[in-house]
Amino acid sequence: MMQEGKMNVLLLGSGGRESAIAWKLAQSPLLNKLYIAPGNGGTGASGENIALKPTDFDAVDNAVVSLGIDMVVAGNEDPLVAGLRDELEKRAAARGSKLLIVGPGKDGAALEGSKDFAKRFMQRHGIPTARHLTATKENLAEARAFLASLKAPYVLKADGLAAGKGVLIIDSLEDAYRSLDEMLAGQFGAASASVVIEEFLSGIECSVFVLTDGHGGYRILPVAKDYKRVGEGDTGLNTGGMGSVSPVPFADRTFMDKVRDRIVLPTLNGLIEEGIDYRGFIFLGLINCGGEPMVIEYNVRMGDPETEVVMPRIASDLLPALKGVAEGSLGDISLEEDPRAAVAVMAVSGGYPGSYPKGKVISGLDKADGIVFHAGTKRCDDGTVVTSGGRVLAAVALAESIADAARKAYDEISGISFDGMYYRRDISKDLLR
Ligand code: AMP
Ligand code: GLY
Repeated sequence: MMQEGKMNVLLLGSGGRESAIAWKLAQSPLLNKLYIAPGNGGTGASGENIALKPTDFDAVDNAVVSLGIDMVVAGNEDPLVAGLRDELEKRAAARGSKLLIVGPGKDGAALEGSKDFAKRFMQRHGIPTARHLTATKENLAEARAFLASLKAPYVLKADGLAAGKGVLIIDSLEDAYRSLDEMLAGQFGAASASVVIEEFLSGIECSVFVLTDGHGGYRILPVAKDYKRVGEGDTGLNTGGMGSVSPVPFADRTFMDKVRDRIVLPTLNGLIEEGIDYRGFIFLGLINCGGEPMVIEYNVRMGDPETEVVMPRIASDLLPALKGVAEGSLGDISLEEDPRAAVAVMAVSGGYPGSYPKGKVISGLDKADGIVFHAGTKRCDDGTVVTSGGRVLAAVALAESIADAARKAYDEISGISFDGMYYRRDISKDLLR
């Protein structure tokens, strides 16, 4: 620990999500120094970027030792699913030192790392989700019969991590049979050696984030909605997310009480019952089926771009809550919600989610007076900021209403430009009708 209990924190990741978490942590009086690994062209404003890969556990552990890190916060799922927590804890214990980690061990990370595990977990604990069957090469006849028993469209999901591309929604039964065969034959490598076949649920989706300390202590963070399709009116290809909004009007008190009682509490109790010491974020991807929340998926991290609207809506210092989570004692640490609405509009590279150029100079950043979270950006030695990814940056605004927040966010983004820049002009509009 640093002087007066101040902490050195290492945040792993490089996206807009990590920019938002870094921005929030940088405001904490409890913070001594923040490092972001590897970070992006904007995170340097909140701390110091460290060039290392979060899945390179040797490099992460070396940084922990050499920088005197007190707490590691995992931004994305890959290192967690690969066992980051288990490995860092083992090494810290061998040195006789204590390291706080926000993010579950490999056992808890299976909620995202294996869709089959997540579905069976939900079944064991009576958590509402779509009916399913897990197919492998061994039960193909049964799998085809299950598909035939469902109504179109058909949902096929690679069991393992597939960089967000492993979910197929297919209109005809014949095509579903063919896709099932292709997936089992290795379309997504080892990730699709098992395929979860699911009943299709229709409704509007929202994202609920829970921080939990593994001992029954939890906080539900501001609820958000993201916009996944590249085109206006939710058309075109799926992306990592083109924008987000918080709060979500349909996720009212009645809905959120159901979420807490039927989903959050059974999930947390289920983890404890199964001996899984889960300390970190749980992301519930939910769908509102006629007022009834159902789970589409679990993730073991925050959402991106949801985090870009959730962090600005947390009025309290986040660091004491993360410390409580990592220590297993969230206790009565408060996390107040800012009553204002937040909207994030994501600017992407022309061509995204297909191929796109990189290295385009971004102008107007110095004039932006609202919040701009960088995602795929890089800062050059001469100080210019250039694009380095598909999702480039998010303009975020807070205001009394969703409509006002959207207006401010669009105002802000209109002053920023780079060659080929594209953004959706309808983020949050569906919620205003
Ligand atoms: P996932 O990667 O699990 O988030 O799935 C990607 C997207 O597919 C989700 O955000 C939903 O829009 C959609 N999806 C997944 N499962 C279902 C389902 N059972 N019914 C309807 N849509 C689904
Ligand atoms: N925005 C959805 C996700 O982060 O998975």
